[in-house]
Amino acid sequence: MGEEPANRSLHEFWEGRWQSGETPWDHGRHAPPWEEFVEREGAPAGRILIPGPGSGHDVKFFASLGADVTGLDISPSAVAAARKRNPHPNATYRSGNFLDPDPDLLGQFDWVIEHTCLCAMDPGHWEGYARSVRRLLRPEGFFLAIFYRNPHDEEGPPHGIDAETIERLFGNHFTQLKSWQPERAYESRAGREELRWFRLKPPAGR
Ligand SMILES: C[S@@+](CC[C@H](N)C(=O)[O-])C[C@H]1O[C@@H](n2cnc3c(N)ncnc32)[C@H](O)[C@@H]1O
Repeated sequence: MGEEPANRSLHEFWEGRWQSGETPWDHGRHAPPWEEFVEREGAPAGRILIPGPGSGHDVKFFASLGADVTGLDISPSAVAAARKRNPHPNATYRSGNFLDPDPDLLGQFDWVIEHTCLCAMDPGHWEGYARSVRRLLRPEGFFLAIFYRNPHDEEGPPHGIDAETIERLFGNHFTQLKSWQPERAYESRAGREELRWFRLKPPAGR
């Protein structure tokens, strides 16, 4: 994936990757575990936000199931690629930093759906990532994630996440509804991913 250099802006780094066409993570289709999720649990409905959707395969998948899906990518070139490759009447693509979302997005979403944005970020940004998930969701909204667990303990990026870190980032504010290791995966990721489904806890005092 390429290291996120600390001394360059995130925008500059990711825009550079998209402009140079260095996008080895792009498999030209949505993530296979989403099919499993929809078969088991039904299609996510309402407003969905997908951080770092790249060229938009996951956005189009959920939009085609009827949800109103916003893809938020820090790279304007990724946004342009997504609009060209994966347009859909229910899909909106916009440029912005998930770690510092525009105010008009806060509290607007029934779901935040994660795939390969968190593992692409330096772990120093993960607390900020978890905070943004909470700020963007409506009360008792859902967070659905394919986590890159990387049991082989290889050095990132992509950065694998362990169970303790997932608990530290999401355990306090979310109730976990389901988790499983998906049977369907891109070949290179088979056995390395975990799907987890959370719900934002109601505000204290209710
Ligand atoms: C590894 S790529 C994955 C793209 C897509 N999810 C896929 O699997 O094809 C990570 C994407 O996240 C975007 N990204 C990285 N940091 C971001 C941030 N802070 N806010 C929004 N997008 C970000 C990058 O521009 C890139 O498109």
